[in-house]
Amino acid sequence: VPGAMAAERALAMATCTAPVNIAVIKYWGKRDTDLILPINSSLSVTLHQDQLKTTTTAAASRDFTEDRLWLNGTEADVGHPRVQACLREVRRLARKRRGGSEDAATLGLLSYKVHVASENNFPTAAGLASSAAGYACLGGCGTGHGGGRRDELSEVARRGSGSACRSMWGGFVQWQRGERPDGTDSLAHQVAPETHWPELRVLVLVVSGQKKPVASTVGMQTSVETSPLLKHRAEVVVPERLAQMMRHIRERDFEGFGQLAMRDSNQFHATCLDTFPPIFYLNDLSRHIIALAHRYNAHHGHTKVAYTFDAGPNAVIFTLADTVDEFVEVVRRSFPPAANGDQFVRGLPVGSAALPQELVAAVVTEPVPGAVQYILHTKPGPGPQLVDDPSQHLLGADGLPRR
Ligand code: DP6
Repeated sequence: VPGAMAAERALAMATCTAPVNIAVIKYWGKRDTDLILPINSSLSVTLHQDQLKTTTTAAASRDFTEDRLWLNGTEADVGHPRVQACLREVRRLARKRRGGSEDAATLGLLSYKVHVASENNFPTAAGLASSAAGYACLGGCGTGHGGGRRDELSEVARRGSGSACRSMWGGFVQWQRGERPDGTDSLAHQVAPETHWPELRVLVLVVSGQKKPVASTVGMQTSVETSPLLKHRAEVVVPERLAQMMRHIRERDFEGFGQLAMRDSNQFHATCLDTFPPIFYLNDLSRHIIALAHRYNAHHGHTKVAYTFDAGPNAVIFTLADTVDEFVEVVRRSFPPAANGDQFVRGLPVGSAALPQELVAAVVTEPVPGAVQYILHTKPGPGPQLVDDPSQHLLGADGLPRR
């Protein structure tokens, strides 16, 4: 916003949307908790914003008397250290892009207070990493995104939440841990665009709207302090896996991609169990879904679906377009919907499938009614987008939320 603002205008506003991302090589653990620098690199798939996105509007005006923040329509604490770190970073970049000029207009501009409003197009209760998209948005629209260098903006997002920096790009994204103590080389970059693997699909199985018991920020620091497995993972396992995963993605090798995604999710949760006291993010239902995926793959004799879980019990399933209808039917039969039968499948269309009797017998063993709330069908998608249409701003001309 500061960069886009003409000194004579009373109010400058920008709106941006940003996606959610899901890691296939997980980030868990920081070497610097203040700058948010990770102990290992990570790799993620950016999900499509048609299904999951966060919209953020930032406004700056000489008339504002304080920085203010609204999340999903409710005013939130702008004093949160991470929000402050993001705003500071946005202002620093704006200053830098002005070529360090110290004229009166620039100084006035940079001292303007900002109002920020952010909202999700999906229920926060879904337990998805919405803050990632929100912070990426702040990075994107805060600096006018089109003009800023995207890797610099990934620094803004990273200061909000580590995994958020990967939402600065579409498709397949690597967050390189970097070596420098000041974090200037700890950046996200795109490995392949969202068009690279057109058949790849994502199913989010929402099992619970519960808040995670241990916030990832706290949990991962306990892991860093106590888990020898995490240390080994960061030093030895992840560097090898990253190279393998990049190759599987480049070759669109679903067998390799899916196997490694499952193994890496499992190892992340193993480091949680190796943390002392231990942390549990998976629940009985998550384990049910894991077993179901393995039975399904075993029945077909190769990897047709791959699960991954973050710091919560919801499953994210990777699969290919030709498998979606059948696997969704398997999930429907395994977890018969309670009341919302018609809203059980959301997002991209899913066709009907008749399951062969042998498949049902081998895979659908003990149905658990109502256990999965709904399935969201989506696919890889693009990175943050600047919204041109002013009617889409979340803040009105008075700088307050429109609704
Ligand atoms: C399990 O990015 O939420 O989702 O940097 O402290 O905000 P902070 O943590 P956060 O951690 C995400 C961990 C994860 C794995 C991943 O997304 O790579």
